[in-house]
Amino acid sequence: MNIAVVTGASSGIGKEFVFRADKFEGIDQIWVIARRKERLTELAQSCTRQIVPVALDLAADGSVEKYEALLAAEKPCIRLLINAAGCGYFGPFSECDIKAQENCLKLNTIALVAMCRASLPYMEAGCSIINVGSNSAWQPVPYQSVYGASKAAVLSFSRAIGRELKPKGIHVMCVCPGWIKTEFQAVAEHDRYIKYVDRWYGPDEVADQAMKDLAAKKTVSILGAPVRRQVKLVKHLPVDMVMNIWCKQQGIE
Ligand SMILES: NC(=O)c1ccc[n+]([C@@H]2O[C@H](COP(=O)([O-])OP(=O)(O)OC[C@H]3O[C@@H](n4cnc5c(N)ncnc54)[C@H](OP(=O)(O)O)[C@@H]3O)[C@@H](O)[C@H]2O)c1
Repeated sequence: MNIAVVTGASSGIGKEFVFRADKFEGIDQIWVIARRKERLTELAQSCTRQIVPVALDLAADGSVEKYEALLAAEKPCIRLLINAAGCGYFGPFSECDIKAQENCLKLNTIALVAMCRASLPYMEAGCSIINVGSNSAWQPVPYQSVYGASKAAVLSFSRAIGRELKPKGIHVMCVCPGWIKTEFQAVAEHDRYIKYVDRWYGPDEVADQAMKDLAAKKTVSILGAPVRRQVKLVKHLPVDMVMNIWCKQQGIE
């Protein structure tokens, strides 16, 4: 049995990826993972392939082990693993709720790494992993410090395992979106802390670009010429200057 696995499937970018997986050749089932089970179940109404809801809190201990147990029972071939679950909590680090930040690190980084490790025994040549990073992966981001660091880890990890898995024919791509209108902003308290956004994109646009880039075997997928330009610039400017520009744009010290 050939499956796609999508985390963060109940909303935003992950949900859009479920619809792309539904059109992906040779998939029998889509295993959809998030905490809100009713939203996962509802996906069946909009998909042609069989939807298998797997309600898990990926930041909780033992969750990825439950996923591993399902894999061991079903022994599928994972044609496509998409790690889109993620969250961020913006604001000054000195005032943050450290438990919430630890939760963000667990979900964005530790769970993503564990999902890749658990899935690899069920992947073969021609299979692919898409990890959702962020535009925040390319630079340290004051007032999003933990989120940015978690996404820098996702980018670095994805590139490194991509190189390791290349001889096995398993492709790894990191998607690094700019600002995308989803439920993410409410969780992150975006409107309280972010004053300047150059351009909003939709989660459907991110998923479309990612599937195009996956077909072209890219290792990084970036939607939008302005975002691609910014990434290029950030690589060449001194890091202090980049952070100062960001702070100035956001009207913070
Ligand atoms: N929106 C942006 O501007 C933006 C920009 C760059 C990168 N990203 C990244 O894109 C990815 C998707 O975010 P989004 O914008 O689509 O946000 P979203 O609409 O809030 O979706 C987040 C998804 O993650 C799931 N999730 C959250 N906590 C979880 C947990 N503990 N265990 C399992 N699943 C959990 C949520 O489902 P439940 O609540 O049902 O668990 C939801 O399906 C994230 O990795 C995010 O960092 C977003």
